[in-house]
Amino acid sequence: MLVEEKLRPLFNFDDLPEPVHFGNGLTGQDIISVSQFNPDKLDYIFARAQEMRELVERIGSTDLLKGYVLACLFYEPSTRTSASFIAAMERLGGSVIPITQGVEFSSVSKGETLADTIRTLEQYADVIALRHPKLGSAQVAADYANIPIINAGDGPGEHPTQALLDLFTIKEELGRINGLKIAMVGDLRYGRTVHSLTQLLTQYDVSLRFVSPEILRLPMKIMNQVIDAGLDVRETHDVADVIENADVLYVTRVQKERFTDLAQYEEVKNHHEITPELMARAKQNMVIMHPLPRVGEIHYAVDDDPRAAYFRQVKNGMYIRMALLAAVLGKA
Ligand code: NCD
Repeated sequence: MLVEEKLRPLFNFDDLPEPVHFGNGLTGQDIISVSQFNPDKLDYIFARAQEMRELVERIGSTDLLKGYVLACLFYEPSTRTSASFIAAMERLGGSVIPITQGVEFSSVSKGETLADTIRTLEQYADVIALRHPKLGSAQVAADYANIPIINAGDGPGEHPTQALLDLFTIKEELGRINGLKIAMVGDLRYGRTVHSLTQLLTQYDVSLRFVSPEILRLPMKIMNQVIDAGLDVRETHDVADVIENADVLYVTRVQKERFTDLAQYEEVKNHHEITPELMARAKQNMVIMHPLPRVGEIHYAVDDDPRAAYFRQVKNGMYIRMALLAAVLGKA
């Protein structure tokens, strides 16, 4: 046999069709930071989330993730993030190991490290949603794990799945993102939802207004990203300065648990309150959002205002997490 003939490849790989990427590059991936998402991936997740909404509204649940297990490991309190991850998994036919009601009942209280807890849970589960008080902990977990880790909040760091549902909500409520004036109000220093959402928004053509007490201003590192992206940006201490022009008012809680000096918390905790009087000065089609929980930043009397989107935002969280779980597990 001629040498050339022996070496002739069986297939010319260049002629093969492109493989189908069901998860749009997200399959098998950790979700640690919003920096992993470009507009193409965002559009993909948003389109899948819309399908999930239709599915839930039509038939409630499906068996797309039947046989798959999600471990929900939460070292910090949570209502919405943990419940929506669980609901998302169950509506897709999968099941959940919930370690959300206080890790004090798990071996963490015996001194087990995060690495060992992760390496244990991956023996049972296909994906882990992790919330932890330490900045960078989601990446540490991902370094140890052989299955995808989804960051459900790493201290004052990031909260990427919340940012996805926030951006999705803006798009669903107002039909677009480009061209909007978005005001972030409250604890911009420690609020991880603000950090993640702001970084996502640098990919769009938006105007940003940051409203906070002096000591809770947006970290310089993130502000520099906004400036580098060339966005129109301003800071103020008073929500009255932005209320008339904002298309989106994204209000947040002062993150008491991040303060080392509680007297300082007391000084700033009631800095903002959105009232019906303030809402009367806002645009008719403005949208008011909040990642929740609220502890006095939005008066209850605002809840009946059609512009109050925070409970619709909560529901969107389930659709977004359904879309993400399916994508990460390659079943979209
Ligand atoms: C946020 C969080 O945990 O960062 N909550 C949430 O996930 N919806 C916001 C907060 O706790 O203030």
